[in-house]
Amino acid sequence: MNIVIVGPGAIGSLWAYKLHQAGHKVSLWGTKQNQQWMLAADDSPEILFSYNQPQTLIDADLLLITVKAWQVEAAITPLQPHVNKDAILLFMHNGMGAVDNIVELIFEYPVVIATTTHGALKVDAHHVKHTGIGQTQLGAFNEKGSQCTFLVDVLNHALPTVSWNSNIRFALWNKLAINCAINPLTAIHQCLNGALAEEKFRPTLDAVIDELVCVMQAEEIPVDRNQLTTTIDNVIRATAANKSSMHQDIFYRRQTEIDFITGYLVRKAQQHGIEVPANSELYKQIQLLEKNGKHHD
Ligand code: PAF
Repeated sequence: MNIVIVGPGAIGSLWAYKLHQAGHKVSLWGTKQNQQWMLAADDSPEILFSYNQPQTLIDADLLLITVKAWQVEAAITPLQPHVNKDAILLFMHNGMGAVDNIVELIFEYPVVIATTTHGALKVDAHHVKHTGIGQTQLGAFNEKGSQCTFLVDVLNHALPTVSWNSNIRFALWNKLAINCAINPLTAIHQCLNGALAEEKFRPTLDAVIDELVCVMQAEEIPVDRNQLTTTIDNVIRATAANKSSMHQDIFYRRQTEIDFITGYLVRKAQQHGIEVPANSELYKQIQLLEKNGKHHD
């Protein structure tokens, strides 16, 4: 397939490399001025990819869009007029709501959403490290997207395991719940994910989870409070030595994904008339940290 990776950050670069290795014609699209870009993954040799070449958009069978949720609209708006209407748009990012914001722009395309638990780290501009083996779930965003289940084979061949979820909203909400619990707290306290297992965080985590359960139920997402608590505790344990993405964004004074994580939850709660004071407080604190560009060392 002719594949363009839009936003070759850590996860996008990993997919670019793996899809190239699997035999696809992969190009990159990003914010640099280059026409070519060298990439290596782990200890494998560097590969030269074409970069920001308009013809690759015209020829694309698949656009894999791996920019952050808050960059989706700005990334797609200038590209969309050049992409042929048969190309599949596959979005992969943390958080929810970003694709809903650009529905008008993409309704004619087959649109697929992905959520992944692979870990990747950009060691430098040209090297990506696969730091955690995970799973990827795909699901349709629109009717045309539901015709794209063959993508499971394409992607699974490159970076397993990949599965199709006919209720991708369920998977996205579960990931959102994990991110609502872990990301703001680790960012505010500038602590490792594992620190959230300490007793002092339990009351906040419990309040965040109670509110998540209420909103998920209102959204008709099947959820069990004990099971969700176990899932979140397991992720805290499994990623104990990690700095969460929001922890790093605050540290490096970058914009965070809070509007598409806790912000999304708070907006949904408002629509249902549900009070979510614990999550609203975390939302406010992250917005403040973002505004002040403050960080702890
Ligand atoms: O955003 C992140 O950092 C990750 O999604 C997670 C699961 C919280 C682990 O750090």
